Formats: sequence, C-alpha cells, structure tokens
Amino acid sequence: MQVDCVLTNGRIHTPRGIVEAGIAIEEGRILKIAKKTNLPKASFKMDLNGLLVLPGLIDSHVHLRDQGYAYKEDFVTGTAAAAAGGFSLVVDMPNNKPVTMDVQSLRERMKLAQNKLLVNAAFCSAFPENTKEIRSIVGEGAIAFKLYLSEKIGGLNIDDDTEVLQALDEVKMTNVQVAVHAEDKGITENETKRKQEENRSDINAYLEAHSSDSEVKAIERIIGLAERTEAHVHFCHISSAKSLELIKKAKGVGVSVTCEATPHHLLLTSRDMKRYKNWAVTLPPVRTRKDTEALWKALKQGLIDTIGSDHAPHAIKEKNQKSLWKVKPGIAGLETTLPLMLTQVNKGRLTIKELVELTAKNPAEIFHLRDRGTILKGRLADLVVIDLKQEHKIDSSKFHSKAKFSPFDGWKTKGTPVKTFVNGCLVMEEGEIVAKPGTGEIIR
Ligand code: NCD
Ligand code: ZN
Repeated sequence: MQVDCVLTNGRIHTPRGIVEAGIAIEEGRILKIAKKTNLPKASFKMDLNGLLVLPGLIDSHVHLRDQGYAYKEDFVTGTAAAAAGGFSLVVDMPNNKPVTMDVQSLRERMKLAQNKLLVNAAFCSAFPENTKEIRSIVGEGAIAFKLYLSEKIGGLNIDDDTEVLQALDEVKMTNVQVAVHAEDKGITENETKRKQEENRSDINAYLEAHSSDSEVKAIERIIGLAERTEAHVHFCHISSAKSLELIKKAKGVGVSVTCEATPHHLLLTSRDMKRYKNWAVTLPPVRTRKDTEALWKALKQGLIDTIGSDHAPHAIKEKNQKSLWKVKPGIAGLETTLPLMLTQVNKGRLTIKELVELTAKNPAEIFHLRDRGTILKGRLADLVVIDLKQEHKIDSSKFHSKAKFSPFDGWKTKGTPVKTFVNGCLVMEEGEIVAKPGTGEIIR
C-alpha cells in the first residue's frame, strides 16, 4: 500500500502524551501513528528530525477582512499569515464591508474565499435584524454568531434586552456558539464623548473611556441573559481581573460560558501603550499588571478556555493617526501568537499540554469543529511542526499579513512553527508558503 504522505521521526503530541513516532496520512486524514518500520510507503516523505508535532492551531478570533476591506487584509494574505503562524484553521469575524449578517452576505463571502484560502476557515455571522433568519444562516454554514456590545454591527438592537434574549433563544435551538465582544456601548460612548469635550486624547483618557467597568457591565448583562436562555456564550478577549471573577462564578453555577484571552492582554500592560503607542491600541485595551497576573492565573487554572489572536489588521495610515480617538484599534496577531506563547513555554510559564488545549483542543470542542484539534488516528491531518529551540526577533516588516506592524516588534522569541500541514498538505515550511490558495477549505 502506498499512502499520500508519511512523516517520520517526530515527537507527536497525542492525548496519551508525547510519543516518538511517525504519521501516515491518506486523503487528508491521519491513517496511522507508528514507528518508522510500521509505516506504509508514501508518495511524499519527510523526516522531522525529532521535532515536536502538535495539532494544527485553531484561532477562533480572526478578522480576515477582504471585500471592502481588502486594503487591510484579504483571504490570501490573511490565511498565509495563519499558515506562517502555525494555524491550520481560523474562524473569520463578521465586521466586514458588507457586514456578514444574512444568508446572502455569508454566501457571497464564502464564494469569494473558496479559492483563496491557504488554511481552513470557518465563518461567524453577525445577528440579522429578523431573528427568524438565524436558522437559515446556520444552514448556510455559519459556525457561530458574533455579538458586539460596543457598537451595533449587524441587525440586532443591542440596547434592547428582549431582542438580545430572543436572538440567544433562537441560537440555542441551532446549537452554534455566540462569541461576545464585551464592552458596554452606553459607557464607552458617553465616556468617549466626555473626554473629547474635555479636549483630552491622552492614553489615560482612552483607557478611562474603555474602562474595565464597561467590560464588567457587558459580561454581567450577558451572563444574566445566558442563564435564562441556556445558550452557550464565549467571551472574546477578556482583559480584566473583575471579568474573570464573574466568569468563574457563572461557570461555578453551571452557566454555559467559556472565554478567550489574547497574547496582547496576557503580555502587555497600559504602561506599554506609552512605549508602543498606536501599535498597541486595541479594544478592549490592555490594562494593569494586576489584570495580566489575573489572566495568567486564570489560564493556569483552566478558567480561560482558549487563546485567540484577535488578528485585526488595518492599513498603516489608519494606525498612524495623531488623535488616539481616530486610531483604528487592533493588532495583527496571527504571526506572533505561537512564537510568543512558545517563548512562555520555554520560560516555564506554560506547558505544551496547556498550550495545545488552549489553541487546538478547546476551540475545536467549543466551536464543534469535528475531527480537529487533537492528533489521533482517523482525525483530519491538520498539524504544526514546532522547533522549540529556534530563536527569532519579531519583525513585522516580514509578515505575510498586509498589516506590517506590531507592538511586539523587536521582541525576542524562542520556539517557532516550522511546518504547517492543512488537510494533509504542507502549506508552510520554514516561514515560506509552499502551497497554492485553495488548499484550505471552508468548514461549515
Ligand atoms: C477589531 C477589528 O479591528 O475588527 N478590533 C479590535 O481592536 N479588537 C474589532 C474587535 O474585535 O473588537
Ligand atoms: Zn472584539
């Protein structure tokens, strides 16, 4: 028997621990994990020289843009950045131009993406105006809904609890997830207006307008509604210690909630905003040392379920604004997330097992991405090969993403993805993209 691909001499991260073995791949799936002598012949063979093999990373928070925002990022550059960063699947966000919020806009977006993807992509929709459309959007292939509480994106009136409740009720019936951007629109709008009237545009004014109170209020509100509907809610980019307390309490009483942390909220504080200026502007903002410490503690305790990059690319001129109020918030994180986290592994702050849970196993489970997130016989062959010793200095000018900026520029990293396999195909090798757009698939 001759199979499509055999990788030999790896240290493979399986649910039973790390095994020294090879992997045989046939038609995009893992056929066998075994010692070299027990692996079949293959048309494509590769010796991994003892490197670590992890399940391909899943980033459940990515803004791939394209369409009206193709100047910021498009499906090719965004998924090239994903492959370069060790991700084999990304979940695309709906705040696009046009907004992904109904069957037609989702269908158009998927059609455009189809032949451009280098890694797999699943799509998230905003809520439609008519909650009855939720089912057909799921029928079209959306794997989640994104609820922005900071501004109206999509058709839902977020100021009205009854409407939000109705939407959550309807989603509950379809069994997909609701990912939430938790910032209270009322607080941030009023505070922003007030600071602007005071002619303030300093970092502290920005932080006060996007306070942790605003995050806490939004989380409290949604936990209350989730409790009533039993819909599953996944809180994106948690930034503050107080929010973690609320989520812990909710989990404790059985409310179906999970949450995400980003590398920037784990590694940067508001003091860094003075140093990295606009490159570090993102929403919710990075906060105090007390908050980052609480995030790390929650990560270690398993209270945080996923690490997402919140890859939010913008054009340089949108970041290079004099007034902070005009700076487009967001950090291009796909190419820095894994090297930054592997550096933390090397520092002993995180284990490989925790990293795999946060970036592959848990996102696959939460978003129902079948047969992914774990290396096992029969699962899909999405893999990332890691060199834990390779050292680099982050250089955003080399990003595959169109957004060639990062607050992490110049940071030294130890540990890097050296190969990314998507559906059994080698897509990235030593930082270079070696496959054609269209290798990635749309996951429905
Ligand atoms: C995101 C973007 O640019 O799309 N920006 C951000 O600061 N995180 C929007 C978002 O996820 O809130
Ligand atoms: Zn967000």
